[in-house]
Order: sequence, then structure tokens, then C-alpha cells
Amino acid sequence: MSKRKKKIKKSFKGILVIILLFLIGVGALFIYNKFFASDSAAVSSEVEKLMKEENIDSTKYSETLEYVLLNNIYDEKYLDEYADIEYIDNDNFASILTTFLPKGYSGKEINYITKLSDKNIDKLSELDYVDISNYYSFKNFDVLKLDRYNAYYEDNEYTYEDVITYVNIGMDLPVYTDTTEVSDPDSLLVLVNKYHYLPDGYEPTDLAYLDGYYGNSVPMREIIVEPFKELQAAALEEIDVEFMPTTAYRGYSFQKTLYDNYVASDGVSEADTYSARPGYSEHQTGLSIDLKNTALGSGIRLTDDDYDWLSNNAYRFGFIIRFPEDKTYITGYQFENWHIRYVGKDMAKIIYEQDLTLEEYIDLYETQY
Ligand code: DAL
Ligand code: ZN
Repeated sequence: MSKRKKKIKKSFKGILVIILLFLIGVGALFIYNKFFASDSAAVSSEVEKLMKEENIDSTKYSETLEYVLLNNIYDEKYLDEYADIEYIDNDNFASILTTFLPKGYSGKEINYITKLSDKNIDKLSELDYVDISNYYSFKNFDVLKLDRYNAYYEDNEYTYEDVITYVNIGMDLPVYTDTTEVSDPDSLLVLVNKYHYLPDGYEPTDLAYLDGYYGNSVPMREIIVEPFKELQAAALEEIDVEFMPTTAYRGYSFQKTLYDNYVASDGVSEADTYSARPGYSEHQTGLSIDLKNTALGSGIRLTDDDYDWLSNNAYRFGFIIRFPEDKTYITGYQFENWHIRYVGKDMAKIIYEQDLTLEEYIDLYETQY
């Protein structure tokens, strides 16, 4: 066969393929249109009819308008609002519209409400109109604390985001007043601070003992013994420092003696900045350890270099620095470079990487709002 004939045969094949593809395309479009067109035509003619019945101008059409018409919850008072409301495919949508439009929320505000948790929507439905525009987008927003958020925002220089977290933590309230008993004292995430105290007589049931700096035997929760030994070994290997515990678990009466002694020498308000009142000390959970570098004299626990290592590595073993230097306004305590707290590796990593306190972590990641 000549070169020319071969060429013609080749291009003929190419044309055939193109025609075939074209026919397949047309067929697919025909089938798609048939189904799609018949559906939308049916819906739109019904909606068109309803819009005519209600005297609604066709320019007002929106998905939300269609929804309220088809669900018999259309109210002409809210015609302009419907245009602003993004339709959401959610069982709650009808009840959100019928609950909150009559309370005076605008369409734009309805869009905020649809993004809230079910819990918050329930709480909001119990209230008259409130302005949530500054807060609704934060996941730890609690509708019932709105007045406190607003007051705290006015009195401070914090962002709305921080205001929510700080108020949730309780920072707008005086310490040691409206306090709550912790419900989960054995949890690795138990939060004990000036707002949360341990149940009367609480003592962990799984205390184990490690050698202490003073030749004492130091009790702590069994679950933190191995992680702590790993931390000790890593410090020895990586910075050639031997950390030993001075105290870890402290029972109620031990803490009471400590605190009372501090009060006797420094007065209540000073003592409160560095010592927890009995029942309010994290040491009573058995999850905290106070450390000392054994090479240093009695007046000093850790050097700056020791702390540099500890604060950047404790998380690898599940521990956090519980009272960091720049967070005293959140923790309520002076900087303690020697006090570590076990929370588990995953949590410790988040707390370390995001530079959070335990208070902030629990509010942002554990509490359901
Ligand atoms: N030093 C810490 C705050 C305590 O007493 O628990
Ligand atoms: Zn401590």
C-alpha cells in the first residue's frame, strides 16, 4: 500500500472515532436532560404556582424561599430575610426558621444560628433576641455565657476569641468562691485549680513509689511511673542532668500543712500565688511531680538550660509544664519551672505545640458546647 493510501486510511479511522465520541456525548446529554429537566420543571412549576398564589415577585426566588413554600412555613413578613438565608439540608432547618425569625433575628443572623451546635441552638431558643454576631463562629461559644462574655470584653483588651475561652475557664469570676467539685478525679485530664476541687478525702487507688531527692519514697499514680522514668533517662542522656522527684502525690492533710505554713509566713494573698489550698492542689491527683536537678544546691531546683530542655521535651513522655511563666493570669499561679503534670502523650503534644495551658486545652478540645 502506498504511503498516501495509508495516510487516508489513518485519518478515516480518526474521523470515525470522533463521530462515535460525539454520538455517545449527545446520547448521554439526552438521557441526563430527560431526567433532570423533568424533575426541575415539576418542582419549579409548583413553586411558581405557590409564588403566584402568595403574590411573590419572581425576582425574590431563592432556595430557602422554595423550601418554606413547599414546607408550608412561608410568612410574608420574612420575605426579604429568606433571600439572605442560605438553605441547609438539615432536619432542623424548618424549626430554626420558625423559632428564630419571629424572635427578630435577621436572615444573616439565621445563618449564624444554623452553624451553632444543637445544644447551643436549644439554649438560644429559650432566650429572647440576643446579638451573637461576635461569638457564634467560635466552637467553644456557650450561649448561656453571652452576658459574661460581653462584660469581660468591655473590661479587658482581649479578642472575642480569647474572651470566650477565658470566661469559660472562669477567669471573670473571683477565685475560690463559686467552686465546683471535680466529677472525674481519676481521669488523666482531671482539672484541679482555684475553681475546681477534689472530692472530700480523694486519694488515687493506684499509688506507686519512686525514689525521691531527699531519700524519701515519692508516691504517684502508677500510670505515670514508666513515662517519668523515660523522661529521667532522656534527660540524663540528652543533657546529662539527673532529675529526681521531690514530691508528687500530696494528700489533703499534707497540702493543708504546707499551705497553712505558707500563710503563716507570707499571708493569704501571697501564699495563694504559689500554693494551692487543700483540696485544690493538683498534687492530690497523683499526676503531678515536682523536680529537682540533683547536681544543684538546695536553693535551686532547675537551671534555665534544664528548663529549656524540660519545657521542650516533657511532652514526648506525656507531661506538660503546668504553670508556665507567661500564663500566670490563666493558671492563677506563679511560674513553676519544676512542676510537671501528666496528661498523656497525645494531649501533651497538642498543649506543647499550641502553647496552651491545661485550662485552655480542656475548654478548646474536650468540652462539648
Ligand atoms: N504549687 C502548686 C500550685 C500546688 O500547691 O499545688
Ligand atoms: Zn508542684
